Amino acid sequence: MGMGRVALVGAGPGDPDLLTIKALRLLGEAEVVVFDRLVSPEVMALIPAGTQRVYAGKAMGDHALVQDEINDLLAGLARSGRRVVRLKGGDPLVFGRGSEEALHLARQGIPFEVVPGISSASGCASYAGIPLTHRGLATGVRCVTGHARDGEALRHDWKKLADPDATLVFYMGLSSLPAIARELMAAGLAAETPAAAIENGTTFRQRRVLGTLSGLPAAVVAAGLGAPTLIIIGRVVELAQALDWFTTEPVTAIAAEAVR
Ligand SMILES: C[S@@+](CC[C@H](N)C(=O)[O-])C[C@H]1O[C@@H](n2cnc3c(N)ncnc32)[C@H](O)[C@@H]1O
Repeated sequence: MGMGRVALVGAGPGDPDLLTIKALRLLGEAEVVVFDRLVSPEVMALIPAGTQRVYAGKAMGDHALVQDEINDLLAGLARSGRRVVRLKGGDPLVFGRGSEEALHLARQGIPFEVVPGISSASGCASYAGIPLTHRGLATGVRCVTGHARDGEALRHDWKKLADPDATLVFYMGLSSLPAIARELMAAGLAAETPAAAIENGTTFRQRRVLGTLSGLPAAVVAAGLGAPTLIIIGRVVELAQALDWFTTEPVTAIAAEAVR
């Protein structure tokens, strides 16, 4: 039996219409799809009925498979001649450990390709009416992890992050949001800097909470947001009301006066 191959495919943030044409084609051709928890049910529904599906998803504290097992699974499936799609939420190479999987395959001499997906920063921002950059409001954007190892503090250079002229996007930042807000304010970012949390962005389940840096942690708790949630901090969030085109639920405009 010949060698198979692995396509590391970005599923985008949730809306199935945001899949690339290449991703859709590869899903149609795959014999096995190894998928993550973050892949939306709407995208999963596009996988042909007869295709084998393997769940490799990770939720906090619930790892169906650990990373080494996922790496070995992908390599083993390809060695047994299968056409494998490794389907990951957003973009596989943005906070997705896709590069670790690709490195493992490369070291084993297993053919692979990478199909980029729309990362949640781009997808959630667009569907929340927030431009990541805007002339006069943000000259750049930084995507940062909000995930800290159990019991450890986040290790960022907060002074560098506390830039009023840039947009900050925190992935995996929901549980550390109080610490993020505290650290940024201690490093000099104004308490009234506009800030947003977007849950299940780009899907019909999307909810946005708009507020200020100091008020967002409490507003997020009050709204009961859960994973997956993306945090966007910066003056661009001021535009979220004016550019709202997608909201399916009433905006939870706690402290909305601060983002007029
Ligand atoms: C492990 S990272 C994976 C990111 C992914 N590779 C990407 O490019 O978007 C998971 C984090 O992405 C964010 N995320 C992914 N999909 C999201 C969505 N539909 N809505 C809000 N946040 C999302 C959340 O911050 C979540 O904690």
